[in-house]
Amino acid sequence: MALYSEKVMDHFRNPRNVGTIDNADGVGEVGNPVCGDIMKIYLQIEDDIITDVKFETFGCGSAIASSSMATEMIKGKPISEALELTNKAVTEALDGLPAHKLHCSVLAEEAIKSAIKDYYDKNGIEYDKSIFPDENACDHCHLK
Ligand code: FES
Repeated sequence: MALYSEKVMDHFRNPRNVGTIDNADGVGEVGNPVCGDIMKIYLQIEDDIITDVKFETFGCGSAIASSSMATEMIKGKPISEALELTNKAVTEALDGLPAHKLHCSVLAEEAIKSAIKDYYDKNGIEYDKSIFPDENACDHCHLK
């Protein structure tokens, strides 16, 4: 069996939503201290809907494929749905990742959450802090 699924290869070779958004409503940046990869997500939000999303990933092929798939999964969706996106759902949508590459999909989930948190913070919107990773828990992973 091939190490990577057709979907992973497709999203790695032709990543969707690569780039940045000028004056984004929310920006999230996370990194993995072990592999050194960094992922940045930009959100445009109107009336609680994610109308546009872009990403920059300085990382491995699995991280790029995960970013691409994750952005496709939240585009046009309400914030509440984007907050529920798990790395497991991203991995399943990619038809799986090798076990030692699962952490790459975690970056996508965390970067999206970080961007939504940034949107909430910038706009003074109240939120349940427990739904976001504790940024103080690891200075390295949550670059902000
Ligand atoms: Fe670090 Fe993939 S090896 S994100």
